[in-house]
Amino acid sequence: MFDTNTRTLVVVGAQWGDEGKGKLVDVLAERADWVVRYQGGANAGHTVDLGTSCFILQQIPSGILHPGVRCAIGNGVVLDPETLFTEIERLVKTGVDVEGRLYVSERAHLVLPYHKLLDAESSASRQIGTTGRGIGPAYEDKVARRGVRVLDLRHPAHLASLVERGVDHANARLAHFGSAKRADVAQTVATLEALAPRLLAIAEDVGLAVHRAIGTGAAILLEGAQGSLLDVDHGTYPFVTSSNTTSGGAAVGAGIGPTAIDAVLGVVKAYTTRVGNGPLPTEFNEPLATEMRELGHEYGAVTGRPRRCGWFDAVVARYAARINGLSGLAVTKLDVLDTLDRIGICTGYEVGGAVHTEFPGDLTALEHVVPRYEWFDGWKQSTAGTRRMDDLPGEARQYLDRIESLVEAPIRFVSVGTRRDQIIEVTGAVPA
Ligand code: IMP
Repeated sequence: MFDTNTRTLVVVGAQWGDEGKGKLVDVLAERADWVVRYQGGANAGHTVDLGTSCFILQQIPSGILHPGVRCAIGNGVVLDPETLFTEIERLVKTGVDVEGRLYVSERAHLVLPYHKLLDAESSASRQIGTTGRGIGPAYEDKVARRGVRVLDLRHPAHLASLVERGVDHANARLAHFGSAKRADVAQTVATLEALAPRLLAIAEDVGLAVHRAIGTGAAILLEGAQGSLLDVDHGTYPFVTSSNTTSGGAAVGAGIGPTAIDAVLGVVKAYTTRVGNGPLPTEFNEPLATEMRELGHEYGAVTGRPRRCGWFDAVVARYAARINGLSGLAVTKLDVLDTLDRIGICTGYEVGGAVHTEFPGDLTALEHVVPRYEWFDGWKQSTAGTRRMDDLPGEARQYLDRIESLVEAPIRFVSVGTRRDQIIEVTGAVPA
């Protein structure tokens, strides 16, 4: 999708996460100079299957697998330094050279051990079904102006006082939860001091570096994590993550102005999944729920949790197209539907006889909707080897055409398997 008019491109999930953003970023990173993660943290699990080896990236941008591409973790990410170094070591062991091309924003907030403890011990986190990676508590501290940033590691005396404030607050919360566990200031400071030299060695003013790269005409890919319906403002609140996953968050979280963004690619699965609790209007009943989970290997990349599955929800995807300003769509996992006799698309939500096509903000309203479906004949043949839209079975084309017209965004990519090469690219200019 990069061309002379599109130099800065955002890739966002347009459902509830796990849409296959890692694969799209990997494919597009080949044409990029920089890949920047702009929100979330180690709650993400971006899978890149090279055929010979498979990587699951949590915090490091999926572009790292392309030598020469610079990768940055933006200020909008909450960074778990211990997980970061484990990830780096894993990459280095498999021969991926990260030296001199991986940066972390000095303004990024840190996920500390007590954030993970709070996430694990809180009943609210359990109700939401969080990943337990300390994401919510770290963002809470950031907004409460109690957070610890990467740049604070430069000032040891100040660092200890910041940690003390964070630990005091965490311990008060843990006591309130009735937990016997407590965080420890000295231990937390010691962990941070041990990590500081390595982290500071890659700390950068990422916003400035990206701004300068844009000035030279570089191609910049901004990699979103989770999905639009998990956005703290636009998602199914409170069953959301604690960041702005939508494209608006890309400018804030990478530290660049919104006018620097040229296009936004929304990634959708050819059906819908969700992990964790909260509404999923098109959710399958048994036995289809299990059948689809097995067909699509729908288990969390990081947590291993089984994902809930349902038919493609065009109300959701059209909403995502609007709030992200999508320039195009990438439809993934089309091949998972290859064996089905018939396939549904939800085109509206029925409530009391009326059909609504706009996604409601009110979860109580959402609980009572009855999805209205259009049905499509299955194509009953493998699409895994297809590399051109014209070579797809007619039924698959009809299905994709209907998605495109309902979502009101042109399809730019169709993924037909996990491997890097299993992708169809629709060539031509990106509409403005
Ligand atoms: P948290 O981000 O760990 O606080 O979890 C909040 C909600 O977002 C839960 O429902 C999680 O299952 C969901 N979530 C967080 N990260 C991901 C992801 O990368 N993929 C899918 N769901 C996610």
